[in-house]
Amino acid sequence: MNLILVLAAILNVYADTSNGTISGNSTITTSSNATISNSTVTAPNPCSGSIIIAGQTDLNNFSSYHCSTFDGNITIIGVSDMSNLTLQTITGTLKLQANTFSAITGLSQLQYIGKELIIDNNAQLLNLFGFDNLRIINYGLTVTNNRNLITINGMLSLQSILGNSEYSLGVILVNNVDLRSIAGLSKITSIGNTIYLSGMPLVSNLLGFPQAVMRVRNITIDNMYGIGTVDPLSNLLSDLSGTTVSITNTKLLQNVDGLSGLSSIVNLNIYKNAALSSIAAFSSSNVKGSIHIDDNGALCDFNGLDKLTGANITNTCGIPTVLNQGTVFQPAASTSVRSTISIFIGFLILLVLMK
Ligand SMILES: *[C@@H]1O[C@H](CO)[C@@H](O)[C@H](O)[C@H]1NC(C)=O
Ligand SMILES: *[C@@H]1O[C@H](CO)[C@@H](O)[C@H](O)[C@H]1NC(C)=O
Ligand SMILES: *[C@@H]1O[C@H](CO)[C@@H](O)[C@H](O)[C@H]1NC(C)=O
Ligand SMILES: *[C@@H]1O[C@H](CO)[C@@H](O)[C@H](O)[C@H]1NC(C)=O
Ligand SMILES: *[C@@H]1O[C@H](CO)[C@@H](O)[C@H](O)[C@H]1NC(C)=O
Ligand SMILES: *[C@@H]1O[C@H](CO)[C@@H](O)[C@H](O)[C@H]1NC(C)=O
Ligand SMILES: *[C@@H]1O[C@H](CO)[C@@H](O)[C@H](O)[C@H]1NC(C)=O
Ligand SMILES: *[C@@H]1O[C@H](CO)[C@@H](O)[C@H](O)[C@H]1NC(C)=O
Ligand SMILES: *[C@@H]1O[C@H](CO)[C@@H](O)[C@H](O)[C@H]1NC(C)=O
Repeated sequence: MNLILVLAAILNVYADTSNGTISGNSTITTSSNATISNSTVTAPNPCSGSIIIAGQTDLNNFSSYHCSTFDGNITIIGVSDMSNLTLQTITGTLKLQANTFSAITGLSQLQYIGKELIIDNNAQLLNLFGFDNLRIINYGLTVTNNRNLITINGMLSLQSILGNSEYSLGVILVNNVDLRSIAGLSKITSIGNTIYLSGMPLVSNLLGFPQAVMRVRNITIDNMYGIGTVDPLSNLLSDLSGTTVSITNTKLLQNVDGLSGLSSIVNLNIYKNAALSSIAAFSSSNVKGSIHIDDNGALCDFNGLDKLTGANITNTCGIPTVLNQGTVFQPAASTSVRSTISIFIGFLILLVLMK
């Protein structure tokens, strides 16, 4: 029996790393801070440790201890209803993964998360209402792979996500394929180090993004097919040691004007942006590190590139060859040659028509 408990603990750890295979009927096990002596698992305090609550039975068992402060990490997997929880403070990470609920319940008294809030792969989750009193997340907010999530507009009290200097954490919203808007974080005044928005094709704008002036170390905008502008990011400043910027795989984005506050950029990646026609926003930025500009068919206005010394520019403005490696790019000649040619062709057509 004791061996089974130990095995359950091990299996639970594995369940946690998969996409949410649920072992079910497992007992609450503490995988850290539990002492194993002579094959006996003892959890000194049910409100501490690193616990994996796998299934509704586990959740109800855990709830019966009425923990209001939990010292450690909690992972909740395969649960249909969290309404029996009584948590107010979690000193570590709260991870909600592969659950079957459509709404967050039981966490309306939660005020503080000492590390991360991770909401991953909850297929039926529609919104994040239910975090009514959550004010501080110390490390980062990660919302990933929730395929029916429509809005994150539910964390009305959230004031800050502090990030952490050791980790690139902040606001990470990835592969929420049905999400329509990122509005909902507008009150926060601190967003951590990273903004990572990816794989959310139905988000049509970035309205509702926090408007406080904030420094960020890393901005990634990737596979965001619906956005035409990043203007709502205009209060972002670069990190003191420079911000990493990646703008990739967009379809409608025309310029990056909202990012003109990034005066110091390290490593700039701009590729596969079908409609991007201007990166003039970076014209006064000090860009250092690698610069990779590839596959931006509409980017012909190179105003802003003159400072990007050493940029590797390929497949841009319909010009397949590497335009610039290791030198300052001088686009004026090629663009003016192109327009001269078009005027000349236009003139020829006119002559033919007049005949
Ligand atoms: C998790 O799900 C993703 C997408 O649904 C899939 O690509 C990945 O292989 C899955 N991982 C595991 C461990 O099953
Ligand atoms: C969980 O417990 C129920 C009732 O005791 C049982 O029918 C079911 O097979 C168990 N599931 C697993 C995965 O052990
Ligand atoms: C759990 O263990 C860690 C280090 O292993 C220790 O810092 C922490 O105080 C322990 N927590 C409890 C509640 O015993
Ligand atoms: C573990 O078992 C050994 C030998 O049976 C015994 O001497 C020792 O006291 C036990 N330790 C605990 C913590 O029960
Ligand atoms: C919770 O589960 C543990 C382990 O199975 C058990 O010892 C304990 O009695 C259960 N607590 C309640 C309140 O059901
Ligand atoms: C919580 O998880 C983090 C890693 O995510 C780990 O460093 C920390 O020790 C865990 N806390 C406890 C109490 O196990
Ligand atoms: C909450 O706990 C009570 C008492 O333990 C139990 O009867 C009830 O079914 C639980 N609620 C849910 C949604 O599981
Ligand atoms: C920036 O964030 C992306 C996505 O999380 C990550 O892959 C990359 O390593 C980060 N770069 C830095 C410099 O932190
Ligand atoms: C420039 O980018 C192209 C296309 O991605 C790549 O094949 C090439 O290796 C890069 N060259 C350098 C010097 O980084």
